Amino acid sequence: MSEHIPTPLCLIHTIDVASQDEISRHLGAMGVVVVGHVGSIRQTPPSNDDDAHDDSHDDDDDSHDDRGMKTKRRANDRDTTTTTTRETTTRETSDVARRAVNHHHHVDDDATTTTTETTETTETTTAGTKKRRLGVKNLAQFKNRAFDKPSMFIRQWGWKREMKTDEERFALDYAHAFKDVDGCAHELKFKQKKFGPEGFASTVWDSAIVMAKYIEKTYEKFRHARSAIELGAGCGVTTAVLAVGLKMETVVSTELKGNLELLNANVGAFENVRCAEMTWGSETDAKNALPSDGEAFDVVVASDCVYHTEAMGDLVKTLEIICDARTRVLFSYGRNRQALDIFMDEIAGKFSRVDVSSSDLDELYQCTDVSVIELRKL
Ligand SMILES: C[S@@+](CC[C@H](N)C(=O)[O-])C[C@H]1O[C@@H](n2cnc3c(N)ncnc32)[C@H](O)[C@@H]1O
Repeated sequence: MSEHIPTPLCLIHTIDVASQDEISRHLGAMGVVVVGHVGSIRQTPPSNDDDAHDDSHDDDDDSHDDRGMKTKRRANDRDTTTTTTRETTTRETSDVARRAVNHHHHVDDDATTTTTETTETTETTTAGTKKRRLGVKNLAQFKNRAFDKPSMFIRQWGWKREMKTDEERFALDYAHAFKDVDGCAHELKFKQKKFGPEGFASTVWDSAIVMAKYIEKTYEKFRHARSAIELGAGCGVTTAVLAVGLKMETVVSTELKGNLELLNANVGAFENVRCAEMTWGSETDAKNALPSDGEAFDVVVASDCVYHTEAMGDLVKTLEIICDARTRVLFSYGRNRQALDIFMDEIAGKFSRVDVSSSDLDELYQCTDVSVIELRKL
């Protein structure tokens, strides 16, 4: 690049273009110059464990489809002129970038160097207005600006799980701090482990944290609720907030059979929690999970459960058994939402849907790639 580049320099690895712009902007405001970025990934996988992945959650074909759709949508929306600067950066830059290279092949695995692009883009929106997007070359303008308070965006990177090291995601305990409904502070530890044949239950996902923190922020909305069920509970973080934070009378925490051991180890000791086997679509499992009076649950929660297209019909079948028109059904989902459209088709005419706005979520524990919705049986 011909212009003067102040130090420090960095190479960023981003989830998507929006994140790249956002990170670049904040780093720029701190006087750091981004010299490049390594393409987009959808998921940080565990190391050396490709075979254990559930195809649906981490499927290269799906991610290609997804990217294709986004590209098409943008192309229809607006005219874009882009100036591209090509740079060559060695691959040994960051752990995250290396994992993306090894597991997602989004950059050429055989090459010893990775070519990255930095862009300066002018867009003409459908309204005809010119909007200038910040690319790497524009960052010099932020160099001397005071960076007086930590950005929310940067702070989110402290809690988001999916870009953490493998050790933090699959070996160490996850610690969740929260206050209960009476204002007492708790910090609970959740065991995690490498993915097994039964999928993605064994690490805590971003959408579980967003959900748990949303419940914590809105305890008041649950004051009449006595029973709750978590579907696909994984490590059980949301279950714990319902049981310990909200002090619900009955919380049924459900998982596929192969994932029950970990779930039990994490939340089975709470006296108001019952861990139960649940395969979505099984009428027997759904009926066995019901509270002892056989009534529908007051609350149903599920986080990061809309990624497996074939399971969506079964998931909705289970919802129909465990809910009635009073049941508050909360779903959160992150980037792995490949089955969301199918899920929405399946609930059409059976459940109404309202999006939870970001202003209602916890101020810190929210992020652009996690959504929360509330459903109600019709
Ligand atoms: C990505 S994990 C999310 C775990 C946890 N809710 C979280 O957000 O951290 C998805 C969960 O759904 C469960 N699951 C997937 N398919 C299922 C099915 N057909 N029946 C029951 N559970 C299923 C998996 O076992 C897994 O625990």
